[in-house]
Order: sequence, then C-alpha cells, then structure tokens
Amino acid sequence: MRAVVTGATSGIGEAIAAKLAERGTVVLVGRDDGRLRDAAARIERAAPGADLVLERADLALVKEVRALAERLPAADVVVSNAAVITDLDDRTAEGLQTLLAVNHLAPYLLLRLLAERIGQRRARFVIVGADPVALARVPVDLDDLESGRLRVPDPDMLPFAAYGRTKNMNAMFGYELARRLTTITVTAAHPGIIAGTRLGRNSRGALKRLADELKLTAPGSEVGADTPVWLATSSEVDGQTGGFYVERRLTPTAEHTTDRARCERLWRESAQLVGISNG
Ligand SMILES: NC(=O)c1ccc[n+]([C@@H]2O[C@H](COP(=O)([O-])OP(=O)(O)OC[C@H]3O[C@@H](n4cnc5c(N)ncnc54)[C@H](OP(=O)(O)O)[C@@H]3O)[C@@H](O)[C@H]2O)c1
Repeated sequence: MRAVVTGATSGIGEAIAAKLAERGTVVLVGRDDGRLRDAAARIERAAPGADLVLERADLALVKEVRALAERLPAADVVVSNAAVITDLDDRTAEGLQTLLAVNHLAPYLLLRLLAERIGQRRARFVIVGADPVALARVPVDLDDLESGRLRVPDPDMLPFAAYGRTKNMNAMFGYELARRLTTITVTAAHPGIIAGTRLGRNSRGALKRLADELKLTAPGSEVGADTPVWLATSSEVDGQTGGFYVERRLTPTAEHTTDRARCERLWRESAQLVGISNG
C-alpha cells in the first residue's frame, strides 16, 4: 500500500502516518524540512524499517499544491489532514486567506488533481473534518467564504468559528467529490477532541482557556488517528463512499453541509479561486 498524509509533522496526522507505515510506504507531507525529518525520526523509532518519503509543500499556496500533486505517486490512500486556526486577516503570498487556503482550498485542489492522476484505479481518500454537532451551528456562508461578515460575541473566538466553517467545507467537499468519483471512495471523519496537538497554538483569551481545559481530559493523537486509519484501510468500509464517520460510525452532518445545491456551489466557487475547471 502507498499512502499520502498531509499535515504529517505533528498531532493526528503524524499518528495516522505512523499507523499506516505499518502497512507500506507513506509519503509525509509537511511545510518544513526540519519538522518533516523530526516526524520521520519519531515514526521510525515507533515502526523500525518504516518506508517513509518526505514531501515539503506549503499547502497555503496554490502553486505548491499543484506542484505537489505532480510530484506525488499515484497513491492507494490519501489522507487530507492538514489544517490551521489563524486570524482571519492572515493572507498568503498569493493573496488568499490562509485559513480558507489551507483548510479547504488545499484539500479541494489536491484531491481533485490526484483523482485525475489516479484515473480509473481503485483508491481511498479520507478527509479529516471536525465535530458535526458543534459544526451544525456554523453553516458556511457561500456569499462570504472568508467569513469576513461573521460576528461572534467574543472576538477571541472568531478564528475558531471561521475555522469551524472551513471544517464544514471539508464535509461538503467530501460529499460532492464522492458523488463525482467512481473508483475512488471518499469518506470524512471527526477525529475526536484530541489533546497534545499544535492546532491551538495561535489561540488566545477564551479560546486558549478552552484549549488548556480540554488538554486535561482529552485523549492523545493515537485515538484521533483511529477512525481515519480505519477508513483508509479496513475491509469493513470497502467500496463505501460519501459517508462521514465519528468513532467508526456513520454519522449524519447538518443539512447545510449535505444540501446538493450548496455543495455544488462551493465546488464551483472553489474551482474559480484555485484556477481549475469546474470538472
Ligand atoms: N485536535 C483536535 O481536537 C481536533 C478536533 C477536530 C478536528 N481536528 C482536525 O484534525 C486535523 C489535525 O489537527 P491536529 O489537532 O493534529 O493539529 P496540528 O498538530 O496543528 O496538525 C496540523 C498539521 O497541519 C500542518 N499544516 C498546517 N498548515 C500547513 C501548511 N500551510 N502547509 C502544510 N502543512 C500545514 C501542520 O504543519 P506544521 O507543523 O508545519 O504547522 C501540522 O502537521 C485537522 O484537520 C483538524 O482540523 C482536530
């Protein structure tokens, strides 16, 4: 098996890569050479002899996502896991909002391009999303993909609410991609509330206090990796596409994420933003 994992330099992505390394070659995708080498060393210590390939790409940049898709081998499994929580005014060198670019546009473009490369072979795409119960409260505003008009009572929580919207985009994209692909199965998963990752590193105020509180009770990344790895490898989900899973269970997500017209519109708007055909 040959697998690709994005965001494999820490947290849940690293744990997913370590598990998949027990079954074959794993391409670790990260944006920093040093952190990629460190993650590979940790995985090799846990799984001696692991066959790891390191791919550096800043997923905030459309041109780097495109170049990555060209370099990557046709994989059997692709796990889209990388994400960030950043301020809404944080922009990439290409002028896109970083939050939208990393969390939604990168998986959108990467998986679409890889699907073209994989063609009619069988493969599995797994998208790491977030908690569908919490996300039911933050529907994507299709007229405001960067959440510039989003208001919340505590401004410190704004990046988290906007992040939540991008995680809803993950679910919407997963459903739409699954409808369009035939030999590649597409599933998405909430990894659980997981401690010890770097996701909350930029948080402050109430969001930081919430993250610190969760650290005391939440499980670690191996638990977060369980459902995505199961979706990537288990015969129990052979041929099953288009589902969203929590703790290995098929779980409904809010209607605003499943509505066909909304998913199609997100697909079209995203195509325009990254400069790819509607497909
Ligand atoms: N932790 C939770 O409680 C929780 C809950 C629900 C969903 N999730 C989801 O789980 C996934 C993993 O999150 P985590 O908690 O493990 O967080 P994490 O430790 O911060 O991992 C995120 C990964 O994404 C990478 N990344 C960020 N920006 C990137 C960029 N521009 N280019 C390339 N890679 C980039 C990070 O690389 P760097 O090391 O270079 O930053 C890191 O490897 C995310 O999709 C998150 O939304 C997590």
